[in-house]
Amino acid sequence: MTANRDTDAAWKYHNGTKHSYHSVRVHPHFLDWDNKPLLFKIYPTLEVMRLPKEFKQTGVAALSAIATTNVPVQGEAVPDLEKLAQLLFLSAGVTKSKKYPGGEIFFRAAACTGALYEIELYIVCADLPGLEAGIYHFGAAEFGLRGLRKGDYRQVLVEATATEPAVACAPVIIICTGTYWRNAWKYRSRTYRHFGWDNGTILANLLAVSSALTLPAKIVCAFNDTQVNRLIGVDTQREVTFSIVAIGHTSTAPPSPPGKIEPLELPVVPYSKAEVDYPAMRQMHEASSLVSAEEVAVWRRNDAWQQGATAKTDGIALQPPSDADIPRDAIEQIILRRGSTRKFSQESITFAQLSTMLDRATRGVQADFLDPLSTLLNDLYLIVNNVDGLASGAYFYARDRQELELLRAGNFRKQAGYLGLEQELPADASMDVFFLADLRRVLDRFGNRGYRAVQLEAGILGGKLYIAAYAQRVGASGLTFYDDD
Ligand SMILES: Cc1cc2nc3c(=O)[nH]c(=O)nc-3n(C[C@H](O)[C@H](O)[C@H](O)COP(=O)(O)O)c2cc1C
Repeated sequence: MTANRDTDAAWKYHNGTKHSYHSVRVHPHFLDWDNKPLLFKIYPTLEVMRLPKEFKQTGVAALSAIATTNVPVQGEAVPDLEKLAQLLFLSAGVTKSKKYPGGEIFFRAAACTGALYEIELYIVCADLPGLEAGIYHFGAAEFGLRGLRKGDYRQVLVEATATEPAVACAPVIIICTGTYWRNAWKYRSRTYRHFGWDNGTILANLLAVSSALTLPAKIVCAFNDTQVNRLIGVDTQREVTFSIVAIGHTSTAPPSPPGKIEPLELPVVPYSKAEVDYPAMRQMHEASSLVSAEEVAVWRRNDAWQQGATAKTDGIALQPPSDADIPRDAIEQIILRRGSTRKFSQESITFAQLSTMLDRATRGVQADFLDPLSTLLNDLYLIVNNVDGLASGAYFYARDRQELELLRAGNFRKQAGYLGLEQELPADASMDVFFLADLRRVLDRFGNRGYRAVQLEAGILGGKLYIAAYAQRVGASGLTFYDDD
């Protein structure tokens, strides 16, 4: 049995990192502010190539961009430097800063737990208009690229993904990594879950902006971990690849790599004075790693995920407005407008707004673990506190029928606040969406790596919900939770 198939590892990690009423009281965590990690990865010995910041507006409505699941391939779809910059800025760029007496906080395009921004992006590309083929690190601090390797290395990723079709045809491949300590400073071993969520919100933006730029994009979770990590030269004790995104389309096959993959061993500015190690996460990562081309190919070629059709009941049909009637603010405007709501007013939203959010955010995600495209690993449950035209209560969203099934009627503001780690946000919000997954089924099908996929998917859906809310001038915030309650 391969390590990935021994799913005790995922159960051990999952059960060991649950939040409960008791766990947060018995194991309270106090933040060591003097040791707070730096929010950026900086290679001090490499020069930065600044990226252009003036972009042509796509003008594509955010609600259309997040709902588009398939960008048709028409000939070559190769982004130039400006489009690449736009993708990076609107996914992981610094979009806002706020001054406070002790300094300045930099906020990014996508929501991130604790605003700690532990996800880094690397670009592996062919020659693009305005950018030579190479491997680059995206420096969010300077909004620039630092070259790690010169030349076209895409073939290494074609091999690492066992010739995943989108990767084999992509002029640009983005590698997303998570750096344990940068998030574990606050969340300790729970950070491995956060990798999925925080990577997911970035990917929600990236997919939406790609579609607005008419660039096909596909998320790939099946890859040989060692090969990918070696290519970008990360220290895997501290930073690991979590997902890959193939962007664009070209009919020219990647050439053989320009040379042997020598270790990079580049100095990096230390994140903190001292780092605390949480071995449970490294164990979870190792146990969910794929080690050979055969294992990668088998992981991807598993039978299609059967989404259980829901039993017919007297559900309440969503009432999303038609394309002609949706708010049309462009995706770039919405990403810049987005920010996590810090206080909800307890006012109502309309049933049409709720319908639009659920409908647009869940139309499907281009990912190698979702086959057919319309399937999802997560199910959505709602607590409705104040929605015009919908009774307050707990609901299940039957996505196949676009209907809400009432599970229990009543005012559950207090319970929602409790479930959201005793915070006011979920109690005050008009509604709360919970992502739940049948972990046993996911792990049976995908092994431990299913844990990465299911958390990532929840992050993508959450990221889409943020955009769908802000596109309708409704506030939103991600939330953590008590697992078993
Ligand atoms: C998955 C996820 C969970 C979050 N959980 C909480 C939470 O429990 N409480 C909270 O106040 N904010 C939460 N946030 C919001 C983050 O704190 C916020 O995204 C971060 O501070 C960056 O700010 P911004 O979203 O306004 O850009 C969460 C965000 C995400 C993506």
